[in-house]
Amino acid sequence: MGHPNIAVLWGSETGTAQYLAEATEMKLNAAGFQSQAIDMSDVQLESLSIYPTILVITSTWGDGDPPSNAMDLLGELQAKSVNLAGSTFSVCALGDTAYYQFCKCGKDFDEALAKQGARRLHPLQECDIDYDLPYEQWLQGVMAALRAKETATA
Ligand SMILES: Cc1cc2nc3c(=O)[nH]c(=O)nc-3n(C[C@H](O)[C@H](O)[C@H](O)COP(=O)(O)O)c2cc1C
Repeated sequence: MGHPNIAVLWGSETGTAQYLAEATEMKLNAAGFQSQAIDMSDVQLESLSIYPTILVITSTWGDGDPPSNAMDLLGELQAKSVNLAGSTFSVCALGDTAYYQFCKCGKDFDEALAKQGARRLHPLQECDIDYDLPYEQWLQGVMAALRAKETATA
């Protein structure tokens, strides 16, 4: 396989977002796309622009905080400058409506990626503790948007 053109970045404290990111990689690749699930703590801000598509699956922790493996990347995305004008993105945010700062980390990534010039491929998906259905809807929406993009550039 060549360089994966879809990065599925995960931010996770207890494994749910990681599990969904790995499932997303498998499902996307089975559908003919080239994707790779990547731990956010292994990603350098500067290297993000090599991916035409950036998918983010992240939980929120503490009181609206990023999971620990997402802290540095979110901080850099918010504080530094990187040109993501050539990338599209979509965020699937895991959370729990019992918390006041519902899905805050996913919302922060959505805002920060847009501010760096990336274009939203598919709207932010918020997921409550029953995440199966909204996650599946998000993935289907992302795949439809990816196919539409491929058709447009073919
Ligand atoms: C200690 C703790 C703090 C949490 N804080 C928030 C929060 O501020 N906002 C939110 O929407 N969800 C919050 N959650 C819910 C998690 O984001 C949710 O359970 C998520 O599915 C966990 O995914 P992960 O296993 O990938 O970390 C919190 C959960 C725990 C246990």
